[in-house]
Amino acid sequence: MSQAEIGVIGMGVMGSNLALNISEKGFKVAVWNRNDALMRDVIRNAGQLAVNFTACDTLEQLKAAIRPPRPIIVMIKAGEPVDQVIAQLRPLLDGNDIIIDAGNANFRDTMRRFHELEGTGLTFIGMGVSGGEEGARHGPSIMVGGKESSWHRVEKVLTAISAKHKGQPCAAYMGPNGAGHFVKTIHNGIEYADMQMISEIYGLMRDGLGMKAPEIAKVFGDWNKGRLNSYLIEITAKVLSVIDSKAKKPLVDVIVDKAGQKGTGKWSVIEAQNLGVAASAIEAAVDARILSSMKIEREAAEKTYKIPRKKLKPKSKAAFLRQLEGALYAGKIAAYAQGFAVMEQASNDFGWKLPMGTIASIWREGCIIRSQFLGVITQAFNKSGGSNLLRAPAFVKMMQAEHKALRTIVSESALSGAPAPALSAALSYFDSYRQGRGTANLIQAQRDFFGAHSFERAGEVGSFHGPWGK
Ligand code: 6PG
Repeated sequence: MSQAEIGVIGMGVMGSNLALNISEKGFKVAVWNRNDALMRDVIRNAGQLAVNFTACDTLEQLKAAIRPPRPIIVMIKAGEPVDQVIAQLRPLLDGNDIIIDAGNANFRDTMRRFHELEGTGLTFIGMGVSGGEEGARHGPSIMVGGKESSWHRVEKVLTAISAKHKGQPCAAYMGPNGAGHFVKTIHNGIEYADMQMISEIYGLMRDGLGMKAPEIAKVFGDWNKGRLNSYLIEITAKVLSVIDSKAKKPLVDVIVDKAGQKGTGKWSVIEAQNLGVAASAIEAAVDARILSSMKIEREAAEKTYKIPRKKLKPKSKAAFLRQLEGALYAGKIAAYAQGFAVMEQASNDFGWKLPMGTIASIWREGCIIRSQFLGVITQAFNKSGGSNLLRAPAFVKMMQAEHKALRTIVSESALSGAPAPALSAALSYFDSYRQGRGTANLIQAQRDFFGAHSFERAGEVGSFHGPWGK
């Protein structure tokens, strides 16, 4: 059998699905897994696609099975296991071979690994892959970071296996070293904000309007036919319609209201803070997951406060639902503006030259946040370059039309006692961002009073102090 074009290490769900995808596109793929039996199962169940697989018992065999220079995708648990596999591959591989870490790595680890491998002859790629199991199998969105020459060596396979938007591959080169994993991290940060805002809107329908899950499903289903059309809205409608056979009620109603997290949302927030970029809607979404996990404490606090949740009594339910849709759309604009602003700043600080329009374009299909909306963002970047999305003409128009809906929904939530942290953060971000004169003059005065930090005077050059008196 001729040698494989590419190798895949890790036959978990993501790794095996990627390998099946590669095989289906006509490439030969050599695979290795620490657990041999699992790898054999994958190939046994691969049907006709098995012909393109070479199962390897050892990493030496894996090396021999791939045509040099060898691209090897590592799709295993992020963190320490990746360092272990790199340490095993390092003495084995030849110069020019490429190790591709396709897991959800912290981009700082990717930068470190990239530099550790520099000078060894080996090349490292940190590759963000989004789309979950289905995406990996049938077409994910792929964000590549590393040397551009390395990208060109794997471009053929990666564009072939990626999702397509109107025939265009959703795989692209993002920039050097950690750029690919950074972009994937921010993708996930935005994903957190999207999911949180959807769940806040769901909460208002469930608790405020007293709607049952199937009815809410119908609303999301309708919204999915409009400008909110996206994978997350689509699956929300689907999730809400499932009836649990055991409880004989909507499955979503028997799921405990505690959400887990693996770290990418948190990293987005940490990096936003490191870069000095406000990403409050994303941060609110991460905080909301933290609070969600404090179930026992929340139940106790509910008993302490006994503040009843007020029902929403809109004059017209249909009109209120339209406002909910507008609020979700406006909140989404602010959250995406934040995510893209974080990437813009990282691009400057790390010297990556991140292709913002391309990022939006490869997120139009394959990834978890795929949506019609990302088509609008792609166009906005193509037209107006890299400024904050809130200043792109298309979004200015949308926010002018929809900020009122967001305002109404956030105030209704506050008055009824329903938390809407991400929507509120989005609104506050918008209101702060669009306000030429804020209130930080007072903060600056306070800083100068207690710490002689000085201040600027309006219309004058230089830095000034008090006098503040005693
Ligand atoms: C994707 C997903 C994927 C995964 C995250 C979810 O883009 O395909 O984001 O990376 O589902 O791990 O993150 P949490 O487990 O933190 O929600």
